[in-house]
Amino acid sequence: THKIILDTDPGIDDAMAIFFAFQSPHIEVLGLTTVFGNVPVTMSAQNALTLCELAKQDIPVTKGVGMPWVGPESGYAHFVHGDDGFGNINFPASQRELDPRSSAQFIVDMAREQPGEITLVAIGPLGNLALALRLEPDLPKLVKGVVIMGGAAFVRGNVTPVAEANIWNDAHAAEIVFAADWDLKMFGLDVTNDVPFTPDFLDGLQERNDTLGGFVNKSSQFYADFYSQNREDRVCFFHDAMPLAYLIDPSLFEFTRGHARVSTDPLNRGQTSVAPIGTTMSPFWLEASQIDVATKVDHDRLRKLYLDTYAL
Ligand code: BDR
Ligand code: CA
Repeated sequence: THKIILDTDPGIDDAMAIFFAFQSPHIEVLGLTTVFGNVPVTMSAQNALTLCELAKQDIPVTKGVGMPWVGPESGYAHFVHGDDGFGNINFPASQRELDPRSSAQFIVDMAREQPGEITLVAIGPLGNLALALRLEPDLPKLVKGVVIMGGAAFVRGNVTPVAEANIWNDAHAAEIVFAADWDLKMFGLDVTNDVPFTPDFLDGLQERNDTLGGFVNKSSQFYADFYSQNREDRVCFFHDAMPLAYLIDPSLFEFTRGHARVSTDPLNRGQTSVAPIGTTMSPFWLEASQIDVATKVDHDRLRKLYLDTYAL
């Protein structure tokens, strides 16, 4: 099994991913660390507590970074995820308490306690990971690896023509995380925008797990309204579950390895530029860290993995 810390901004697809991780026998979630992103960080943290209570998981939940590394607040994605982050379903908030530590401190503490054991799974903006790197410069040696949902390497962005939301929300933090010397795998729009989920699939989650699948199905109605605006069919995209699916079954994905950077320039802020190995001779680019970018995913087996795992 993979021991993970799940860094998140719940968020509808975050909820779907968190439940998927809880359900999987191959994943042990040591804690949820929250960050601003889809919603303000206070709401992220509250929502994470609520998801843990619903799933009967007694694990630490921390509140983390509430602002981008540089610059003003960027605005939240309530138009995608609803006023409550859960598609306006009026779900009662948990009364549970947060772990008193910051998200970054929790990450550092856990990595020191269990060196080499923990994979960081980040499915929101990367401020907590960047701050953890500042608190503990040896963090790359202390964790097993990092898998993220974020970025758009060889496809268009979803916030700007070149930037994906998680990276755009905190581009400076992302550049720090990309530049660190660790095994980083990126699951961006290259793969996540490639797999639409239909109402049949959502009903399937609910049939297999009335509590958790039912929650995802209900909250995804608002989410699907957003995604279906400019389409004939009714679909939504569960971006955030993909790095977890990779941990469970790496054979679902194909990767391109390359030198990667994140732009912090206002014009193309949050752009993830990747030069596949062997395609650049520029010394400037050859200095950039190498990461693995997921570029292909097996749709049918991925959907089946989600459904089967919700059924457990
Ligand atoms: C990412 O942005 C958020 O809206 C989602 O939760 C996901 O993490 C997709 O671009
Ligand atoms: Ca997210």
